[in-house]
Amino acid sequence: MQVIDQILTLREARRRWQVEGKTIGFVPTMGNLHHGHLKLVKEAKQKCDIVVASIFVNPLQFGPDEDLASYPRTLEHDLAALESLGVDVVFTPSVHDIYPRGLEQQTFVEVPGISYMICGASRPGHFRGMTTIVCKLFNMVQPNHAFFGEKDYQQLQIVKAMVTDLSMNLTVHGVPTVREADGLAMSSRNNYLTTEEREMAPRLYKLLREMADLIHLGRRDYSKIISEYKQKLVEAGFSPDYIEIRAADSLLHPSHEDEQLVILIAAFLGKARLIDNIRVDLED
Ligand code: PAF
Repeated sequence: MQVIDQILTLREARRRWQVEGKTIGFVPTMGNLHHGHLKLVKEAKQKCDIVVASIFVNPLQFGPDEDLASYPRTLEHDLAALESLGVDVVFTPSVHDIYPRGLEQQTFVEVPGISYMICGASRPGHFRGMTTIVCKLFNMVQPNHAFFGEKDYQQLQIVKAMVTDLSMNLTVHGVPTVREADGLAMSSRNNYLTTEEREMAPRLYKLLREMADLIHLGRRDYSKIISEYKQKLVEAGFSPDYIEIRAADSLLHPSHEDEQLVILIAAFLGKARLIDNIRVDLED
Protein backbone atom coordinates (compact mmCIF):
# COMPACT_ATOMS: atom_id res chain seq x y z
CA MET A 1 0.00 0.00 0.00
CA GLN A 2 1.32 3.42 -0.97
CA VAL A 3 0.66 6.46 1.23
CA ILE A 4 0.69 9.60 -0.91
CA ASP A 5 0.46 13.13 0.45
CA GLN A 6 1.28 15.06 -2.74
CA ILE A 7 -1.34 15.79 -5.40
CA LEU A 8 1.24 15.46 -8.21
CA THR A 9 2.33 11.99 -7.04
CA LEU A 10 -1.31 10.90 -6.94
CA ARG A 11 -1.81 12.20 -10.50
CA GLU A 12 1.24 10.22 -11.70
CA ALA A 13 -0.17 7.02 -10.17
CA ARG A 14 -3.55 7.82 -11.74
CA ARG A 15 -1.92 8.16 -15.19
CA ARG A 16 -0.24 4.74 -14.84
CA TRP A 17 -3.54 3.06 -13.93
CA GLN A 18 -5.17 4.76 -16.91
CA VAL A 19 -2.53 3.35 -19.29
CA GLU A 20 -3.00 -0.10 -17.73
CA GLY A 21 -6.78 0.16 -18.29
CA LYS A 22 -7.60 -0.27 -14.58
CA THR A 23 -10.90 0.78 -12.99
CA ILE A 24 -10.51 2.97 -9.93
CA GLY A 25 -12.70 2.92 -6.82
CA PHE A 26 -12.54 5.78 -4.33
CA VAL A 27 -13.49 5.93 -0.65
CA PRO A 28 -13.22 9.46 0.79
CA THR A 29 -12.94 9.60 4.59
CA MET A 30 -11.99 11.92 7.42
CA GLY A 31 -10.14 9.03 9.13
CA ASN A 32 -10.86 7.49 12.55
CA LEU A 33 -12.03 4.49 10.58
CA HIS A 34 -14.62 2.02 11.86
CA HIS A 35 -16.35 -0.98 10.31
CA GLY A 36 -18.69 1.32 8.37
CA HIS A 37 -15.71 2.78 6.45
CA LEU A 38 -14.19 -0.67 6.04
CA LYS A 39 -17.39 -1.90 4.41
CA LEU A 40 -17.07 0.91 1.85
CA VAL A 41 -13.53 -0.29 1.11
CA LYS A 42 -14.70 -3.91 0.76
CA GLU A 43 -17.38 -2.84 -1.73
CA ALA A 44 -14.78 -0.86 -3.68
CA LYS A 45 -12.42 -3.86 -3.72
CA GLN A 46 -15.17 -6.03 -5.16
CA LYS A 47 -16.06 -3.61 -7.95
CA CYS A 48 -12.71 -2.08 -8.94
CA ASP A 49 -9.13 -3.02 -9.88
CA ILE A 50 -7.56 -0.24 -7.82
CA VAL A 51 -8.86 1.20 -4.55
CA VAL A 52 -7.87 4.67 -3.35
CA ALA A 53 -8.96 5.89 0.11
CA SER A 54 -8.41 9.45 1.28
CA ILE A 55 -7.98 10.65 4.86
CA PHE A 56 -8.54 14.39 5.18
CA VAL A 57 -10.31 16.20 8.02
CA ASN A 58 -11.91 18.93 5.93
CA PRO A 59 -12.04 22.25 7.81
CA LEU A 60 -14.43 23.70 5.24
CA GLN A 61 -17.30 21.47 6.37
CA PHE A 62 -17.09 22.31 10.09
CA GLY A 63 -19.00 25.25 11.55
CA PRO A 64 -17.22 27.71 13.90
CA ASP A 65 -18.69 26.03 17.01
CA GLU A 66 -18.17 22.46 15.81
CA ASP A 67 -15.60 19.80 16.68
CA LEU A 68 -12.84 20.39 14.06
CA ALA A 69 -10.07 20.70 16.68
CA SER A 70 -11.17 17.68 18.70
CA TYR A 71 -12.19 15.47 15.72
CA PRO A 72 -10.44 12.12 16.43
CA ARG A 73 -7.25 11.65 14.38
CA THR A 74 -5.93 8.08 14.39
CA LEU A 75 -3.69 7.87 11.31
CA GLU A 76 -1.53 4.86 12.31
CA HIS A 77 -4.56 2.74 13.18
CA ASP A 78 -6.37 3.85 9.98
CA LEU A 79 -3.41 2.99 7.73
CA ALA A 80 -3.07 -0.46 9.31
CA ALA A 81 -6.80 -1.15 8.77
CA LEU A 82 -6.68 0.00 5.13
CA GLU A 83 -3.54 -2.03 4.43
CA SER A 84 -5.14 -5.19 5.89
CA LEU A 85 -8.00 -4.78 3.37
CA GLY A 86 -5.65 -4.46 0.40
CA VAL A 87 -6.16 -0.77 -0.37
CA ASP A 88 -3.71 0.32 -3.08
CA VAL A 89 -3.25 4.00 -2.22
CA VAL A 90 -4.13 6.17 0.77
CA PHE A 91 -4.15 9.86 -0.05
CA THR A 92 -3.36 12.06 2.99
CA PRO A 93 -3.02 15.64 1.71
CA SER A 94 -2.32 18.65 3.94
CA VAL A 95 -4.83 21.47 4.47
CA HIS A 96 -2.39 23.84 2.75
CA ASP A 97 -2.13 21.68 -0.38
CA ILE A 98 -5.89 21.31 -0.59
CA TYR A 99 -6.67 24.99 0.07
CA PRO A 100 -3.52 26.84 -1.11
CA ARG A 101 -5.32 30.22 -1.36
CA GLY A 102 -6.86 29.84 2.11
CA LEU A 103 -10.37 28.85 3.20
CA GLU A 104 -11.85 32.34 2.76
CA GLN A 105 -10.88 32.67 -0.92
CA GLN A 106 -11.69 29.08 -1.87
CA THR A 107 -13.94 28.56 -4.90
CA PHE A 108 -16.83 26.44 -3.72
CA VAL A 109 -19.26 23.90 -5.13
CA GLU A 110 -22.79 24.00 -3.79
CA VAL A 111 -25.84 21.95 -4.70
CA PRO A 112 -28.73 24.35 -4.02
CA GLY A 113 -32.02 23.32 -2.43
CA ILE A 114 -31.20 19.88 -1.05
CA SER A 115 -28.09 21.28 0.73
CA TYR A 116 -30.10 23.86 2.68
CA MET A 117 -32.69 21.58 4.28
CA ILE A 118 -32.62 19.09 7.20
CA CYS A 119 -28.94 18.81 8.32
CA GLY A 120 -28.11 21.75 6.06
CA ALA A 121 -30.53 23.96 8.00
CA SER A 122 -28.91 22.95 11.31
CA ARG A 123 -25.35 23.18 10.00
CA PRO A 124 -25.19 26.17 7.58
CA GLY A 125 -22.32 25.81 5.11
CA HIS A 126 -21.64 22.19 6.04
CA PHE A 127 -22.78 20.65 2.76
CA ARG A 128 -21.11 23.38 0.72
CA GLY A 129 -17.81 22.46 2.41
CA MET A 130 -18.52 18.79 1.84
CA THR A 131 -19.34 19.09 -1.88
CA THR A 132 -16.34 21.37 -2.40
CA ILE A 133 -13.89 18.84 -0.97
CA VAL A 134 -15.58 15.85 -2.62
CA CYS A 135 -15.48 17.62 -6.01
CA LYS A 136 -11.79 18.49 -5.51
CA LEU A 137 -10.95 14.91 -4.47
CA PHE A 138 -12.87 13.57 -7.49
CA ASN A 139 -10.77 15.89 -9.68
CA MET A 140 -7.57 14.56 -8.14
CA VAL A 141 -8.37 10.83 -7.99
CA GLN A 142 -10.63 10.74 -11.08
CA PRO A 143 -12.35 7.56 -9.92
CA ASN A 144 -14.73 5.43 -11.98
CA HIS A 145 -16.68 4.53 -8.82
CA ALA A 146 -17.03 6.30 -5.46
CA PHE A 147 -18.49 4.83 -2.26
CA PHE A 148 -20.44 6.64 0.46
CA GLY A 149 -22.25 5.34 3.55
CA GLU A 150 -26.04 5.52 3.71
CA LYS A 151 -25.78 6.64 7.34
CA ASP A 152 -25.04 10.11 5.96
CA TYR A 153 -28.13 9.81 3.80
CA GLN A 154 -28.48 13.47 2.86
CA GLN A 155 -24.76 13.68 2.03
CA LEU A 156 -25.14 10.71 -0.34
CA GLN A 157 -28.12 12.29 -2.14
CA ILE A 158 -26.27 15.60 -2.45
CA VAL A 159 -23.14 13.95 -3.89
CA LYS A 160 -25.32 12.09 -6.42
CA ALA A 161 -26.96 15.40 -7.39
CA MET A 162 -23.57 17.10 -7.76
CA VAL A 163 -22.30 14.28 -10.01
CA THR A 164 -25.42 14.59 -12.20
CA ASP A 165 -25.41 18.40 -12.28
CA LEU A 166 -21.70 18.69 -13.13
CA SER A 167 -21.77 15.75 -15.61
CA MET A 168 -19.02 13.97 -13.70
CA ASN A 169 -17.90 10.72 -15.26
CA LEU A 170 -18.28 8.34 -12.32
CA THR A 171 -20.85 6.21 -10.50
CA VAL A 172 -21.71 6.95 -6.87
CA HIS A 173 -22.61 3.92 -4.74
CA GLY A 174 -24.50 4.08 -1.43
CA VAL A 175 -23.46 1.38 1.03
CA PRO A 176 -25.84 0.28 3.85
CA THR A 177 -25.17 1.53 7.37
CA VAL A 178 -23.09 -0.77 9.58
CA ARG A 179 -24.52 -1.10 13.08
CA GLU A 180 -23.24 -2.27 16.44
CA ALA A 181 -24.92 -5.43 17.79
CA ASP A 182 -27.40 -3.25 19.73
CA GLY A 183 -28.38 -1.28 16.60
CA LEU A 184 -26.35 1.92 17.08
CA ALA A 185 -25.09 3.16 13.71
CA MET A 186 -21.29 3.18 13.62
CA SER A 187 -19.85 6.69 13.61
CA SER A 188 -16.62 8.39 14.60
CA ARG A 189 -18.71 10.67 16.82
CA ASN A 190 -19.79 7.68 18.96
CA ASN A 191 -16.34 8.13 20.58
CA TYR A 192 -17.72 11.22 22.33
CA LEU A 193 -20.32 9.16 24.27
CA THR A 194 -19.73 8.42 27.96
CA THR A 195 -20.37 4.84 29.11
CA GLU A 196 -23.83 5.80 30.30
CA GLU A 197 -24.68 7.65 27.07
CA ARG A 198 -23.39 4.71 25.01
CA GLU A 199 -25.98 2.52 26.77
CA MET A 200 -28.75 5.01 25.95
CA ALA A 201 -27.68 5.60 22.32
CA PRO A 202 -29.29 2.53 20.63
CA ARG A 203 -32.71 3.94 21.57
CA LEU A 204 -32.33 6.30 18.59
CA TYR A 205 -32.54 3.44 16.07
CA LYS A 206 -35.31 1.71 18.08
CA LEU A 207 -37.44 4.86 17.80
CA LEU A 208 -36.70 5.09 14.06
CA ARG A 209 -37.87 1.49 13.62
CA GLU A 210 -41.03 2.18 15.62
CA MET A 211 -41.84 5.17 13.39
CA ALA A 212 -41.26 3.07 10.27
CA ASP A 213 -43.62 0.40 11.67
CA LEU A 214 -46.34 2.98 12.31
CA ILE A 215 -46.14 4.14 8.69
CA HIS A 216 -46.20 0.54 7.45
CA LEU A 217 -49.32 0.00 9.56
CA GLY A 218 -51.02 2.84 7.67
CA ARG A 219 -50.41 6.06 9.59
CA ARG A 220 -49.91 9.04 7.28
CA ASP A 221 -50.20 11.88 9.84
CA TYR A 222 -46.47 12.54 9.55
CA SER A 223 -46.40 15.82 11.51
CA LYS A 224 -48.16 14.15 14.43
CA ILE A 225 -45.80 11.15 14.35
CA ILE A 226 -42.84 13.56 14.32
CA SER A 227 -44.05 15.51 17.37
CA GLU A 228 -44.86 12.30 19.28
CA TYR A 229 -41.40 10.92 18.58
CA LYS A 230 -39.60 14.17 19.41
CA GLN A 231 -41.21 13.79 22.84
CA LYS A 232 -40.08 10.14 23.04
CA LEU A 233 -36.54 11.18 22.12
CA VAL A 234 -36.53 13.70 24.96
CA GLU A 235 -37.87 11.04 27.35
CA ALA A 236 -35.02 8.74 26.21
CA GLY A 237 -32.49 11.41 27.24
CA PHE A 238 -31.73 13.00 23.83
CA SER A 239 -31.97 16.65 22.76
CA PRO A 240 -33.60 16.35 19.34
CA ASP A 241 -32.24 18.51 16.53
CA TYR A 242 -34.75 17.26 13.95
CA ILE A 243 -36.94 14.37 12.94
CA GLU A 244 -38.02 14.44 9.30
CA ILE A 245 -40.10 12.14 7.11
CA ARG A 246 -39.18 12.83 3.47
CA ALA A 247 -39.33 11.46 -0.06
CA ALA A 248 -36.29 9.18 -0.34
CA ASP A 249 -34.74 10.68 -3.51
CA SER A 250 -35.57 14.40 -3.46
CA LEU A 251 -35.73 14.72 0.35
CA LEU A 252 -38.78 16.97 -0.17
CA HIS A 253 -41.88 16.60 2.02
CA PRO A 254 -43.64 13.51 0.64
CA SER A 255 -46.63 13.83 -1.66
CA HIS A 256 -49.39 11.20 -1.95
CA GLU A 257 -47.57 9.64 -4.92
CA ASP A 258 -44.27 9.08 -3.09
CA GLU A 259 -43.85 5.40 -2.25
CA GLN A 260 -40.22 5.54 -1.13
CA LEU A 261 -39.72 7.48 2.08
CA VAL A 262 -36.87 8.03 4.48
CA ILE A 263 -37.09 9.00 8.15
CA LEU A 264 -34.10 11.03 9.30
CA ILE A 265 -33.12 11.92 12.85
CA ALA A 266 -30.39 14.07 14.38
CA ALA A 267 -30.17 14.34 18.15
CA PHE A 268 -27.62 15.32 20.73
CA LEU A 269 -26.63 12.91 23.47
CA GLY A 270 -24.20 14.75 25.72
CA LYS A 271 -21.46 16.12 23.43
CA ALA A 272 -22.28 13.79 20.55
CA ARG A 273 -24.60 14.77 17.72
CA LEU A 274 -25.89 11.44 16.42
CA ILE A 275 -27.63 11.02 13.07
CA ASP A 276 -29.42 8.00 11.68
CA ASN A 277 -32.13 7.16 9.17
CA ILE A 278 -34.38 4.37 7.98
CA ARG A 279 -35.98 3.80 4.57
CA VAL A 280 -39.70 3.07 4.35
CA ASP A 281 -41.07 1.43 1.21
CA LEU A 282 -44.85 1.97 1.11
CA GLU A 283 -45.20 -0.74 -1.55
CA ASP A 284 -44.08 -3.37 1.00
O1 PAF B 1 -18.50 11.54 5.23
C1 PAF B 1 -17.37 12.05 5.46
O2 PAF B 1 -16.55 11.50 6.19
C2 PAF B 1 -17.02 13.38 4.82
O3 PAF B 1 -18.12 14.21 4.73
C3 PAF B 1 -16.34 13.23 3.44
C4 PAF B 1 -17.27 12.61 2.42
C5 PAF B 1 -15.09 12.37 3.58
C6 PAF B 1 -15.92 14.60 2.91
O4 PAF B 1 -15.03 15.23 3.78
